Amino acid sequence: MMRQFKSQLLALMALATFLSGCGGEDSIHPMSTLAPRSDLANWIYGLFLEITAWDLLILTIVIVAFILAVFVFSTRVGEAGPPTAVSSDLTLEIAWTLGPALILLFISIPTVRLIFRSQPRNAVANELPITVVAHQWWWEFHYDDGSGAITANELHIPAERPIHLKLVSNDVIHSFWVPRLGGKRDVVPGQVNSIHLISTVPGEYYGQCAEFCGVSHANMRFRIFVDKPDDFAMWEKSQAQPGAVPAQATAASRGAQIFADSPCTTCHTINGISKGYVGPDLTHVASRTTIAAGVLTNDPHDLTEWIEHPETMKPGARMPDFGLRGPQLNDLVSYLESLK
Ligand code: CUA
Repeated sequence: MMRQFKSQLLALMALATFLSGCGGEDSIHPMSTLAPRSDLANWIYGLFLEITAWDLLILTIVIVAFILAVFVFSTRVGEAGPPTAVSSDLTLEIAWTLGPALILLFISIPTVRLIFRSQPRNAVANELPITVVAHQWWWEFHYDDGSGAITANELHIPAERPIHLKLVSNDVIHSFWVPRLGGKRDVVPGQVNSIHLISTVPGEYYGQCAEFCGVSHANMRFRIFVDKPDDFAMWEKSQAQPGAVPAQATAASRGAQIFADSPCTTCHTINGISKGYVGPDLTHVASRTTIAAGVLTNDPHDLTEWIEHPETMKPGARMPDFGLRGPQLNDLVSYLESLK
């Protein structure tokens, strides 16, 4: 008896642990679709609950039918032989054809309605258009509101304002996914896909490429910072400025010269110095919290490691090691970390 009680208790605890893995506190579940923070994510969550309710109804019916069959309608020991076989029953056949068809209809109507609702045909008033370019293996964001702001791997958007993300790919198929702000959408070469959303709660939300796109697919992460409207306006204005010019005769100013003379300029833009476009725009790289598409922290230690061993830190990374070491590398890192 005790043993049975113990195993039941264990099963209950396992269930509770499993359920606690779905949703809840922000910091514990940063990538849960069950803690929505935008209108789009809320709609999808509502649809999920609606379909789950239908599923629960079906589960209940099946369990009740099973219990009735086993405990009420079964033959008992000592009773006469098996019940008479029924070869066909028209009413039953109609019932189990119509039943599932109706359930599918109940599920498909709100699903199709949500698809249309989430993809408005015309531009929404006051929307902020942003082009998202997927690369192997990082994300580029262009603000198409005339500000000229460009950033990589860390998208800032204002809360309570309609956002229109135009998703394009530079190479293969990727998938843009920020679980708490909305559903996945494929990013397909030669095609522009859209996501429309209004984020409701300022905060930091994690994103991840959700379509296998090569060796560093798992390292193709990003973040969306939902800012209060005033904070966003300040951020966007600062991002549109040219890169900071370091004071004369400092490590950073020597680093600026090293950058200008290096092959880095063929791939990276620093507004005012270079115009590369293969890798992320570094004009305000120091204003980001992470580097290498969310894989490393943006601090001198990780940045140094990244420039020295890109291939080790992120397999398949397009950035080669140019052999910068020692004081030269330190100066370059000082410069990059000064680009707020
Ligand atoms: Cu990009 Cu997976």
